[in-house]
Amino acid sequence: MSKETDEDNRSQLSFWFGSCCNNLFQRSKTSPSEHIHSSLIDKNQKNSRFVSQAGKQIVTRDSNFDGLLHDPLEENITSILHTNENTIPWEDYKELMRITSPFHITVETLTHVMTAMEKHCQMGLDPSTKTDSDLKMLPTYVTNLPTKNEYGEILALDIGGTNFRTLLVKLNPNTESEVISEAHIVPDSKKILGNDLFEFIVDVLKQFMIRNQLDLNLEYVLGFTFSFACEQIALNKGKFLTPSKGWILSDLIGQDVVEKLQRVIYQKQLKVKITALINDTVGTLMACAYHEPTCRVGVILGTGTNACYFEDINKIHTIKDRSVLSSEATDMIINTEWGALGEKGCLDMLITDFDREIDRMSNNPGVHIFEKLISGMYMGRLAAEVLAALINQGIILKIQRDHKQSYRYYAPFHALYMLQTSHISEIELDTGRTFANTRNVLKKLGLEYATNADCAIISYTCRLISRLEITMNS
Ligand code: GLC
Repeated sequence: MSKETDEDNRSQLSFWFGSCCNNLFQRSKTSPSEHIHSSLIDKNQKNSRFVSQAGKQIVTRDSNFDGLLHDPLEENITSILHTNENTIPWEDYKELMRITSPFHITVETLTHVMTAMEKHCQMGLDPSTKTDSDLKMLPTYVTNLPTKNEYGEILALDIGGTNFRTLLVKLNPNTESEVISEAHIVPDSKKILGNDLFEFIVDVLKQFMIRNQLDLNLEYVLGFTFSFACEQIALNKGKFLTPSKGWILSDLIGQDVVEKLQRVIYQKQLKVKITALINDTVGTLMACAYHEPTCRVGVILGTGTNACYFEDINKIHTIKDRSVLSSEATDMIINTEWGALGEKGCLDMLITDFDREIDRMSNNPGVHIFEKLISGMYMGRLAAEVLAALINQGIILKIQRDHKQSYRYYAPFHALYMLQTSHISEIELDTGRTFANTRNVLKKLGLEYATNADCAIISYTCRLISRLEITMNS
């Protein structure tokens, strides 16, 4: 038996994740390494000079500089707070820095996450340590990439994110594939019971087939993308494990989702056979690999977050039934379910009181901690929590308070809790110091009286929360 080195034992995902962090580390080394505490805009020379508190000039810019920052890894977004128009009192500034400081990510923090991720990946692949791992590392029974020789008309359902999609994919080896796709909203009332959900999606699928003139008397195959953790024992069998992203689906837990959906499909007189169940990460990897055969990793950064990757089949000691695998299979996609990292405490050093509040308010406290730290489902609320603390400390929206005497203190709070992740993206698109987008978002929330300093602070806070702002420790 050959002795494997530690390197051999590392999962392939660890290498990938590690190199991402290394890249960030390398880039951050070339970026300003200090928080900027004051700045000078030299209008005569049309140059912007940012000066650290110690007085050392650390960034210079040419006359095209519009005052806002576009690459968080190369520039420090704190400079948003420093213009002649935004006069933020020093006491407020210090308090703002205190409240928002946990959102400055250090290289040490990233390394900590990388190391924890790697450790939990390894433990999850081994039956003797699997229960100690936060990561489920689920075998998917997908052992091949697409060859582009696939052909035929295939239906697909894609559910579990913000939108639910019905698709008709026409594959032909000699031409580009044709995809007809429709997006639908799943009402919150259908996110509670699996049975209601499946009834709803099969009705939508039937209408989709009719609209696209498919002959309902013919048989079709269907691929089912279900963006939740499922324990698979074959390509078309998967037990639903954990709801996330605000879904409940209590009657589905422990059930085979393919069997359940298939039953509803037949009840509704459709001749559609589900041939594959995949996670959205796997769908992402396969879709990319269709055009780029070297693709080996799928990552979702959306409503939730997750990653999958190809692993050497001999390193996966948790495959329940190898008899269903082709004898030629050498690798299999593993669905890591990395959103669950931190459930046993390994990310506690990163977790702020704001994150704790998000977790407490969620319908699955203590679960999917990493997902709650970074994904789109929670970001709007996280920013709202921080901004509410700033209002509470009298740092922002003071004028708003005076204008709305009767709602003193409370109106901005309520308004802020309507902040969505999409609003944060809009705020991030501001490219000048008039903060047009920030003002627009605030207006939508009914907060029309924001000063320029308010806008600068709100823009800074939202950017800090949504971006990876790396600060060197030393
Ligand atoms: C959640 C699900 C996971 C999915 C991810 C992204 O983390 O558990 O299966 O891939 O969201 O949608």
